[in-house]
Parts: sequence; C-alpha cells; structure tokens
Amino acid sequence: MKKTGKLAVLGSINADHILNLTQFPRPGETVIGKQYQVAFGGKGANQAVAAGRSGANISFLACVGEDGIGLRIRQQLVEDKIDVTPVEVVAGESTGVALIFVNAEGENSIAIHAGANAALTPVLVEKHQQTIADADALLMQLESPLESVLAAAKIARQHQTQVILNPAPATPLSDELLALVDMITPNETEAEILTGVHIESDEDAARAATVLHDKGIYSVLITLGSRGVWLSENGNGQRIAGFRVKAVDTIAAGDTFNGALITALLEDKPMDQAVRFAHAAAAIAVTRAGAQPSVPWRDETDSFLLQQE
Ligand code: RIB
Repeated sequence: MKKTGKLAVLGSINADHILNLTQFPRPGETVIGKQYQVAFGGKGANQAVAAGRSGANISFLACVGEDGIGLRIRQQLVEDKIDVTPVEVVAGESTGVALIFVNAEGENSIAIHAGANAALTPVLVEKHQQTIADADALLMQLESPLESVLAAAKIARQHQTQVILNPAPATPLSDELLALVDMITPNETEAEILTGVHIESDEDAARAATVLHDKGIYSVLITLGSRGVWLSENGNGQRIAGFRVKAVDTIAAGDTFNGALITALLEDKPMDQAVRFAHAAAAIAVTRAGAQPSVPWRDETDSFLLQQE
C-alpha cells in the first residue's frame, strides 16, 4: 500500500446565506428571521477545511465563480492550510450558493444553487488527475456532478488511492460507483436511499451496512446523529457513541466529522480512535454557528478530548 500521507478532497464551495428563525416557514407562510449571516460553506470546502485545520496534508479540487466571494473563499482556504492549486476560477460563473434556515432547536433546512460547482466536469477532473494519483486518499461528496465523482473514483482506483465517499446530499447511486468506494459515511437518510433499509436501531444500521458491503465497500460508517456512528468493517459492526454538547446549529457537523476522520486515519490512528477524534471535532462544530466558522483547529479538538478523560 502506498504511503504519501496526502489527502485529496473533491467537492463543492458555497457561500452560505444563513437565517436563524424560531421555526421553519410552512408553504405559503412568511416568517421574520432573528439573525442573518453569510458564511463560507459547501460540503467539499467544509470537509477540506476540517482536514486542513486538523493537520492533514491536503489538496482541494473544486471551482469558484469569478466573483468577489469566490476569491475571498479561495484565499481563506489557503489560510486553512489547504493547497488550492486545483481550485479553478470559472469565467462568467458565480460561486455556488446555499440558502439555509436554522430553527430554534439548531436544526437546519438547506437549498443550494450549484453555480460554479457544476463546472467541475470530468474534463477538469482529468486535468487534475495527478493530485488524485499522488494522494493516499480521495474524499468526495455529492454536490459535484455525479459523472465527475465517478471519473475521480476511477482515477483513484487506477492509482491505489483509497476512495472515501460521504454520499450527501442524499441521492441514489450506481453500483458502478459504489464498487469503487473503499469507505462510505452516510447518515441515516442517505443510507436508507442507498440500501432501502429504514434505520431506527443498531440492528437496522447493521442490515444497511451489509447491503453496502455487498456492493463492494469495505468500511461503512453510518452517522446516527446524537446516537453516534455505526461502524462496520468487513461485516463486524459496533456503535461508537459521540459526545453530548449543547447545539447552536448542526451545519457542517457531518462535514467536520468526515474531514477529521480521514485526517486521523491518514495518521494511522486505529479506526475507533479516529472516530472518537472525529466525534470530538464535530461536537465542537455544533456548539458554534455556521459552516466553516464552526470548524475547530487541531489544538481545540485535542484539548476537548483531553477534557473527556
Ligand atoms: O453540509 C453543510 C453544507 O451544505 C453547507 O455549508 C451548505 O453550503 C451545503 O452545501
């Protein structure tokens, strides 16, 4: 197995427009928000930032628009210790946008406009194939064109780069793509869409994991919200609980989990310790507002873990 210590992340970049309100508006209803902010987000960028701030050696393959916010996000990614050489500025396009409502319970509801993220085509993936070939692991999500995710997974397989897929937002996926995935990290909804198994218990999670193993995936981690994560490797499953914290908002909690998890695994931490590290980073993220503003740095996650001992 190769050992470069490098991580490649392929994914989206969004400007998140976040409105805090007491409860989500129903169809036809107008509600008055309490607080509004624009913050840097996008599942790909959030996961890249979580990895960068956790100490990974990371390159990010993504697209921003030819606009002020895109350039500011790209600059911020550099400050978050990410190699942005493969972040393309797409002429004539605007940076991706996410419209996010957060209710009083800290739950969110998100709608996105792909913008420049749609320009991350298989041709662009091909252009940056060396970044994937040079990495030990490739982490992807589903806010980029599916054909590009598939193209990147094929390149990764050719070069013995591990493929980690966070299948969010939820969408059905081909067996061809799933067969190229080494590790998958769905939440309960995403796991149900991929397997047909409705998850309410550990037994359900184990059954969903079996379906995913049968599609060729070695490591399955199903995130279960406040109940932690169901970890199944080669059919051996266990639930690893998370940490209890008071949630401000859960935006990017899953993204933080993914970025921190892969960083810890690339440091050769055993899987259960890597999950604990990722739980800690995600726990910190939910105590803070927004996506990237909530993602902790390595020393913060390490201190949080020390306090739990
Ligand atoms: O996972 C959270 C992210 O989803 C937000 O930052 C938003 O941009 C959407 O992509």
